[in-house]
Amino acid sequence: MSLTPSIKRLRELKALSRQGGGPERVERQHKAGKLTAYERLELLLDEGSFREIDCFVTHRATGFGMEKYKPLGDGVVTGYGTIDGRLTFVFAQDFTVMGGSLGRAHADKICKVLDLAMKNGAPVIGLNDSGGARIQEGVVALGGYGDIFLRNVMASGVIPQISCIMGPCAGGAVYSPAVMDFIVMVKSTSYMFVTGPDVVKAVTGQEVSFEELGGAWMHNTESGVAHFIAENEEDAIYTLRRLMSFLPQNNMEDPPVIPCRDDPLRTDDNLNTIVPDDPTQPYDMKQVVRTVVDNGDFLEVMEHFATNLIVGFARLNGRPVGIVASQPSVLAGALDNNASIKGARFIRFCDAFNIPIITFEDVPGFLPGLDQERGGIIRNGAKLLYAYCEATVPKITVITRKAYGGAYIVISSKHIRGDVNLAWPSAEIAVMGAEGAINILYRQELAAAEDAAQLRAQLIEEYRATFANPYVAASWGYLDDVIEPSHTRPRLINALEMLQNKRDHNPPKKHGNIPL
Ligand code: HXC
Repeated sequence: MSLTPSIKRLRELKALSRQGGGPERVERQHKAGKLTAYERLELLLDEGSFREIDCFVTHRATGFGMEKYKPLGDGVVTGYGTIDGRLTFVFAQDFTVMGGSLGRAHADKICKVLDLAMKNGAPVIGLNDSGGARIQEGVVALGGYGDIFLRNVMASGVIPQISCIMGPCAGGAVYSPAVMDFIVMVKSTSYMFVTGPDVVKAVTGQEVSFEELGGAWMHNTESGVAHFIAENEEDAIYTLRRLMSFLPQNNMEDPPVIPCRDDPLRTDDNLNTIVPDDPTQPYDMKQVVRTVVDNGDFLEVMEHFATNLIVGFARLNGRPVGIVASQPSVLAGALDNNASIKGARFIRFCDAFNIPIITFEDVPGFLPGLDQERGGIIRNGAKLLYAYCEATVPKITVITRKAYGGAYIVISSKHIRGDVNLAWPSAEIAVMGAEGAINILYRQELAAAEDAAQLRAQLIEEYRATFANPYVAASWGYLDDVIEPSHTRPRLINALEMLQNKRDHNPPKKHGNIPL
């Protein structure tokens, strides 16, 4: 049957819109190791689920020859689809159209998607690949960013917002991803910076490469801006889909429970011997986490930043949980500035989206040092304290070894509304470690002693006998129970079930004043 002229025209226009910047620019995109906006969305969303909106939108700019080039869609593909059957709103900037630059119409399309996501209580994922504010549109382009930023902030804590950087993301454009919940960056092909290498050279004289200034590795290891690093675009999209599987649709829903194929009553004797007898010897807390959670499946967040603290998502009996765990094999698990900030942000995300927090603690304290104090460990440690205190989701803690000083209190203790606080028999709960405590308490006696070494050994032994165990804390009710390490998984699952209908509230207020 022949097509009517109107349907023919419709099909032509849709095909034109899908062409983006045309075959030459698409080829350039592919040669750079990048996919096009449509190709990315096809991979991200369930097969056949993508519904595009606004493919006929064009800019209305004039000057600089703009009136002669009005690409359909204006350099961003927007719409919605499903991920594992769940509604998700998306926008994907198209670098093949004016470098994916953002003008008024382009911004309006993104705002429409953000508004829809908010109204319908569904997550939004942005795929960023853009030269930034469209130079030819001037202040109108800047205004477009402002409109997006405002919506990102309003949506914060209401719907999950995830950004994937798949090309340039420069200037003020970085602040939309930065306000969102998670940033995934692709190795080698993505970068984020407020001012590029040319401006840096002009202002500071420093010569830096794109990679050094804002590459995926830098933001995943040093700045703490990004949460995930992907080998390539397919890997990035796999990470996005995996991350989404742990998250609820919005702040009024619980995260999705899946059928559990791992025995909830499973015990593991290896845990009984994982903590070394010598309290100065490290062990790998990730091994503890993987042993305890369903199928050893753990999605680590910020894997390469502040590695003395581990955070990420896992499931217990099919139910998503946020894991916060100190890592004794890095800086002995001490809390420094970066670890405190990393932990606080993750805890606040979990709390906003009804994800219970499971904490594994082996922390000798806050990291001492001039750098740490100058870097604001008081202010930053307070963030972690604040985040744990304010969180009303179920909070379950397991002290595996050290819980010394401020760290004991800050890390989800009973005193700050820990719901279930457990310890292994190897736990040591004290104001400080034995050596430091003896030096302070018995300075004069040690100075006067004939055999100081022998006296010190004896005092340390006595101190350890008193404090290097969990039973003093348990006698005060600061711990609910001391458990055999091998039983950790069933005990955590049991505690989570007990807390399933937990209700707790903070006093009404406009908002708190977290020490930023
Ligand atoms: C208009 C732009 C553009 C922009 C790129 N293009 N950026 N058009 N406005 N901001 C166009 C180019 O003219 C070119 O068009 C096409 O996109 C591809 O760009 P190339 O330069 O050929 O690509 P490449 O060599 O890969 O370099 C990419 C790039 C470079 C590094 C991103 O284009 C660049 O430096 N762009 C400017 C980045 C920038 O400073 N933006 C402003 C940031 S400030 P043709 O027709 O030749 O294919 C900002 C403020 C936001 O965004 C503030 C919010 C509050």
